[in-house]
Amino acid sequence: MSGRVEGKVALVTGAARGQGRSHAVRLAEEGADIIAVDLLEDIETAPYPMATKTDLEETVRQVEALGRRIIATQADVRDLGQLKTAVDQGVADLGGLHVVVAQAGILTMGLDTPQAFLDVVQVNLVGVINTVTAAAPHLESGASMILTGSTAALLSGSVDITGAGGLGYAHSKRHVARLGHDLARVYASRRIRVNVVHPTNVDTGMMDNEFMYKAFRPDLDAPTREEMIPSLASKSPMDMPWLAPSDVSEAVLYFASDASRWVTGQQLKLDAGQLLPMTDAGVPA
Ligand SMILES: NC(=O)c1ccc[n+]([C@@H]2O[C@H](COP(=O)([O-])OP(=O)(O)OC[C@H]3O[C@@H](n4cnc5c(N)ncnc54)[C@H](O)[C@@H]3O)[C@@H](O)[C@H]2O)c1
Repeated sequence: MSGRVEGKVALVTGAARGQGRSHAVRLAEEGADIIAVDLLEDIETAPYPMATKTDLEETVRQVEALGRRIIATQADVRDLGQLKTAVDQGVADLGGLHVVVAQAGILTMGLDTPQAFLDVVQVNLVGVINTVTAAAPHLESGASMILTGSTAALLSGSVDITGAGGLGYAHSKRHVARLGHDLARVYASRRIRVNVVHPTNVDTGMMDNEFMYKAFRPDLDAPTREEMIPSLASKSPMDMPWLAPSDVSEAVLYFASDASRWVTGQQLKLDAGQLLPMTDAGVPA
């Protein structure tokens, strides 16, 4: 099957690399044009680098290689004015907006400072609210918004881990889950859908960095990616260390496409069974 989002325009934040790039390319493969946004600057409290201009250029190259159009802009999801400018320009150039993928996000785990809490909430929660706000005036019946949560939003007890940064991560994601539910209710009468995707670990720059190697292998002095992987897998009932970004893109594509035209307000776990021991028929135990 191809052309599952033919004729649609999709906004993807955090599109320079990782899951955001994967979503942009997968949607383009199925016929969408793309409005891509990324920060392209580091954030002091995040213990790993953000994407670069070269990364965003690579997303542009991959989308254009598929024969689709892409308008790529440097913008910070924390800044509503920057986002509005980027989205308005993209819509003017591409002729509409039908899909919103709020993917940009950071992890400030390990830092126990108020700033680490504030930064992650500003990006992961306020950034999603800003994305919806910038997109909303352009959306019509049939549009679909997909918010990125995390299993951290659904794990009971996850708020008490890894300092103020980890607390902020779980806090922001829990509120993204609630936001998706509330927006789905508000937009249902306009036939605009809102769903939330909750991945477990994904093989992207957010996980594939020296800070995370050490977080998962505190027993080693300078652990490598290969030494982290068994530790990730040991926490999964399917012995699965991390998803590929493309695994998440398939869910995003489903929610973006008309195949899910009556599906809204869902909280989709992409967790390889991670949450099963903590839930009963999908409901927290
Ligand atoms: N990787 C995982 O294990 C995992 C698991 C569950 C959920 N998530 C969620 O996925 C998102 C991270 O995506 P990823 O895994 O591809 O990681 P990533 O770090 O590779 O990609 C995140 C992208 O967002 C951009 N970005 C960061 N702050 C921004 C801002 N203020 N404005 C615009 N762009 C910004 C970065 O430059 C980067 O390109 C987060 O929302 C995170 O909570 C990730």
